[in-house]
Amino acid sequence: MLARRAARLACSSSNSHVQVSHFSSTAAVKADFTHAVIGGGVVGLAIARHLSRHSSSSTVLIERHPAVGTETSSRNSEVIHAGIYYGKSSLKTKLCIRGRNLLYELCEAHGVAHRRTGKWLVAQNAAQREGLEKIYALCRDEIGVPVRWVNQKEIEENGEGVRAEAGALESPTTGIVDSHGLMLCLQGLFEDAGGVVALGSPVKAIRALSSGGPSSSKPGSSGWEIDVSDGPGGDISTITAETLINAAGLGAVSIHNMIVPPSQHKQLFYAKGNYFSYSASRPKISRLIYPAPEPGAGGLGTHLTLDLAGRIRFGPDVEWVDDPNDLTPNASRLDQAVAEIKKYLPGVDAGALVPDYAGIRPKLAPKGAALATDKNFNDFIVRKEEGYEGWVNLLGIESPGLTSSLAIAEMVDQLLYGSQTGTVESVHA
Ligand SMILES: Cc1cc2nc3c(=O)[nH]c(=O)nc-3n(C[C@H](O)[C@H](O)[C@H](O)COP(=O)(O)OP(=O)(O)OC[C@H]3O[C@@H](n4cnc5c(N)ncnc54)[C@H](O)[C@@H]3O)c2cc1C
Ligand SMILES: *[C@@H]1O[C@H](CO)[C@@H](O)[C@H](O)[C@H]1NC(C)=O
Repeated sequence: MLARRAARLACSSSNSHVQVSHFSSTAAVKADFTHAVIGGGVVGLAIARHLSRHSSSSTVLIERHPAVGTETSSRNSEVIHAGIYYGKSSLKTKLCIRGRNLLYELCEAHGVAHRRTGKWLVAQNAAQREGLEKIYALCRDEIGVPVRWVNQKEIEENGEGVRAEAGALESPTTGIVDSHGLMLCLQGLFEDAGGVVALGSPVKAIRALSSGGPSSSKPGSSGWEIDVSDGPGGDISTITAETLINAAGLGAVSIHNMIVPPSQHKQLFYAKGNYFSYSASRPKISRLIYPAPEPGAGGLGTHLTLDLAGRIRFGPDVEWVDDPNDLTPNASRLDQAVAEIKKYLPGVDAGALVPDYAGIRPKLAPKGAALATDKNFNDFIVRKEEGYEGWVNLLGIESPGLTSSLAIAEMVDQLLYGSQTGTVESVHA
C-alpha cells in the first residue's frame, strides 16, 4: 500500500490533489460529465487521463472494484512489447509501436519503474527458424522495428545457458514495466487534471438518449445515462455524460450488449494464462526469452520474463476456460510448462517452479490466435460505433494492450475530437 502511494506521489505533478470520489448509496447522484470511461484498467486510465486534458471538459472513470487495476492489467507479463507479432497493418502493430514509444517516454518523465531488458526469440528446429525469419523480414521490410540475428558464438558465450539450436533473434526495444506503478501514475495525472474516479461502481444498465419525434436523432446525441450500483444488491445511481467510452476489458462485451439490440450481441471467449514463479538463483538470466511462436496458439508460448527485481517467472500458457472469474493458477499445468521451458532452458530447476498467478485474455473468437498470420487472429476493436453519437467501443484488448494503452488513448481522443489534438499531444513529455 505504501509502495503504491509512493509511486503515485512520485509521479504526480502536485501532491495536494489526491481525491477518490465514490458515488454514495444514500443519495442518487446525478453527475454531469463530458466523458464517462467505463473500466479502471490501464486502458481506461490512459483514456481518461488523455481526455481530461481537454479544457472545460470533465471526465469520470467508472470501475466496479474498490481499486483500479485489479483485473487483467495486473495479471500479465508486464512486457513492453516491440510489436513484431501482429502483421503489417493491424491496429495491434500500429498501436503497440506507437504505445511503446509513448510508454518509455512517460516512464522516463514520471519515474515509473521500467527496464529496457531486450529479448531473444529462440528457435530449436527448421520450422521455428522459418517463423523467426518471417518475423525478421516483417520487422525490417514492413514495420521498421529493430531486430538483429544473434550469431552462434554469441549464443554460446553470452547466452546464459539458453538453448537456441536453430538461431536466436534479438529484439532490443522490448522491455518491462511496473504495471501498478504505471496505473497509479496515470490515476494521479488524471486526478490532478480534475478527473473523478468512481470506485466500487459496477455498471448495470446504459441508456443512449436522443430527442424523439419523426426526425429523431441518433441514440446518444442527447447523451448517455449510466446506472451504477453500490455493490451486490446496492442502490442504483445514475451518471450522465455526453460521451461514453467502453474500456471494460473482460466486461466490455457485457457493456456492449447493454447498448445494442439483441441481434448485435457479441460473445467473449476466455483464454487463461497460468504463471509459474521460479525460486532458484540459477541459471541467472538478464533478458527476456521467448520460444518461436507456434502457429495457431492463443498466446506467445510459455516464455521467461523478469520482474524489476530481476526475478525469473515463466508463463503464460493457454488454457481455454468458461468463466472469466476462474483466476486460480492451475497446478496440473506445471508438467507441460516444464517440458516447454526445458526446450530452451535445459538447466532449469523444475523443483523451483510453483504456480503463481493467472490472467485471462479477452478473446473475440473461440480459439482466437495470437499471431496475425493465423486465420483466427482478431485485431483490437477500437471504434466509434455507427448509428450512435458519442460512443467509442473497445473490445478484445488482449496483449499487447498494456504496451498500447497510451496510443489507444490517443486514438480514442482522435475518434471523438478529430485530428485537432495537437494541443494535448505535447503533454506526454
Ligand atoms: C496472461 C496475459 C499476459 C499479458 N501480457 C502482456 C504483456 O506482457 N504486455 C502487454 O502489453 N500486454 C499484455 N497483456 C494484455 C494486457 O494485460 C491487457 O491488454 C490490458 O491489461 C487490458 O487493459 P484494460 O484496461 O482493457 O482491461 P482490464 O485491466 O481488464 O480493465 C477493465 C476494467 O473494467 C472493469 N469493469 C468491467 N466491467 C465493468 C462494469 N460492468 N462496470 C464497471 N467496471 C467494469 C474491470 O473491473 C476492470 O478493472 C496480457 C494479458 C494477459 C491476459
Ligand atoms: C487444469 O488443467 C488440467 C490439465 O490441462 C485440466 O485437465 C483441468 O481441467 C484443469 N483444472 C481446472 C480446475 O481448471
